[in-house]
Amino acid sequence: MAQVSWLSNAITWAFLLAGIASASLQIVPGATWRAVNTHAHVQAHGAGVIEVEGTYYLIGEDKTNGSSFQHVNCYSSTNLVEWTYVGPLLSRQSGGDLGPDRVVERPKVIYNKKTGKYVLWMHIDNSNYSEAKVGVATGSSVCGSYDYLGSWQPLGHQSRDIGLFQDDDGTAYLLTEDRANGLRIDSLTDDYLNVTRYSQKNNYYFMFASHLTGWSANDNGYSYATSMSGPWSNWTTFATVGTDTYNSQTNYILPFPGGKTVMYMGDRWVSSNLFASTYVWLPLTIDGTNVTMQNQISWVPDVNGDTWSSSPAETKNYGVNATLSNGAKLVSCSGCYDDEAAGYIGGPSEGTVTFSNVYSRASDLTTVQIQYENGDSSARYANISVNGATELLEFLPTASGQTPGTSVLFCKLDDKGNNEIVITTSDGTYGPDINMLVVPES
Ligand SMILES: *[C@@H]1O[C@H](CO)[C@@H](O)[C@H](O)[C@H]1NC(C)=O
Ligand SMILES: *[C@@H]1O[C@H](CO)[C@@H](O)[C@H](O)[C@H]1NC(C)=O
Ligand SMILES: *[C@@H]1O[C@H](CO)[C@@H](O)[C@H](O)[C@H]1NC(C)=O
Ligand SMILES: *[C@@H]1O[C@H](CO)[C@@H](O)[C@H](O)[C@H]1NC(C)=O
Ligand SMILES: *[C@@H]1O[C@H](CO)[C@@H](O)[C@H](O)[C@H]1NC(C)=O
Ligand SMILES: *[C@@H]1O[C@H](CO)[C@@H](O)[C@H](O)[C@H]1NC(C)=O
Ligand SMILES: *[C@@H]1O[C@H](CO)[C@@H](O)[C@H](O)[C@H]1NC(C)=O
Repeated sequence: MAQVSWLSNAITWAFLLAGIASASLQIVPGATWRAVNTHAHVQAHGAGVIEVEGTYYLIGEDKTNGSSFQHVNCYSSTNLVEWTYVGPLLSRQSGGDLGPDRVVERPKVIYNKKTGKYVLWMHIDNSNYSEAKVGVATGSSVCGSYDYLGSWQPLGHQSRDIGLFQDDDGTAYLLTEDRANGLRIDSLTDDYLNVTRYSQKNNYYFMFASHLTGWSANDNGYSYATSMSGPWSNWTTFATVGTDTYNSQTNYILPFPGGKTVMYMGDRWVSSNLFASTYVWLPLTIDGTNVTMQNQISWVPDVNGDTWSSSPAETKNYGVNATLSNGAKLVSCSGCYDDEAAGYIGGPSEGTVTFSNVYSRASDLTTVQIQYENGDSSARYANISVNGATELLEFLPTASGQTPGTSVLFCKLDDKGNNEIVITTSDGTYGPDINMLVVPES
């Protein structure tokens, strides 16, 4: 009997957990996204996504130490919000294509059914971008280590930014930026290890791309065609004109299973400090051939339900109104509420800001947005304690006009409506200046 009772508890618990995943965990574009197991910002820039048996793998560039190649990193998630670092697919070698001062960008992985291999394509270059090549590697597990096969110019053409597209029938294509001829589309060979000239097929295709403005964002466009060989429509903007695609550059388009919801994935590059680049992920609206995209401060994806919703109503809890202790005091903060924030958090005296009576009726794991300022060029860290449960969060630099920035906390609130959130450090370092907590009402 005891065993049966335990089992039924476990099942109830698993069921509740499954319900939590889609309840109110938000995607917050442009924020610090802390990986579940590293306490650090997700380092997967210029990324692609591949789904394997209900798990999503985010594969992108590690920019921890700047622009030159460090790792192609892999993170996993089942809800597109909480990401766990798994490991690198490729890492820097002592020399060659993957050596010091090399460029390895825009990694994309697709699975080849015929060979049973995962195939990784990427842009390979020297530090002045004069080689303009593609490189290919293969792996036997999606998020394991990959074997690098080499690099070359596809069909003899320059190739810089790339994308991969895999069609329902298994044919796949390389989208490549050929500086001399513009955007080109090549077919991949059956084993996905090389390209051939594209072959004709009839379907409906959408393609997303940016213009050429270096690391700076511009108004990205989309084009559509009934065949990969064209004719392609003229480029049309899909985000609000003049916003530079909400300050982002397209790197991937991810349809949810079922294909009703389609997510735009862009990079908001910080060219002076690449590790602090953030991610702008937003749902697209597609009506026939008309594609549009609204900006959102945050939103709630439901990947298994193939839908999304707006974030719940939220309350703002200001640092200037919180309790400051142990030497924490108000500091000026341009762009913050009342142009002030709770500063001197942490440091030698462990300065502390305490938010008491934080109202919420949310009973599940939920998202608290922490708005802050960090004028350094490196990250700051702080421990956030929610009703006594503590988590370490990273706070990216907010110089270059990004004040206040946001760092995203996933936590369990007390549905009786009364929470205490305490922010400090205990390692002698200073945490960020705290502008406000944005807390879901339900
Ligand atoms: C960044 O550089 C530091 C110092 O050289 C090194 O310890 C660290 O492993 C590097 N990180 C990555 C991701 O390459
Ligand atoms: C680019 O850098 C390589 C070394 O990585 C060098 O050999 C080459 O001359 C440089 N080319 C230009 C155009 O600066
Ligand atoms: C790719 O195919 C081209 C033309 O068919 C060939 O010349 C080239 O050697 C191939 N490259 C690789 C890496 O297999
Ligand atoms: C595309 O743009 C060109 C130049 O503005 C214009 O002449 C042409 O009619 C457009 N084509 C379509 C299909 O709208
Ligand atoms: C495309 O959709 C947007 C948003 O629904 C709408 O405002 C716009 O008029 C549509 N454009 C066309 C050409 O249908
Ligand atoms: C919060 O502090 C500001 C001054 O910084 C004050 O004007 C405002 O009334 C305070 N709000 C509350 C709810 O105490
Ligand atoms: C956060 O708390 C942990 C556990 O007490 C401690 O080891 C770590 O140094 C703290 N980090 C900061 C930045 O305060």
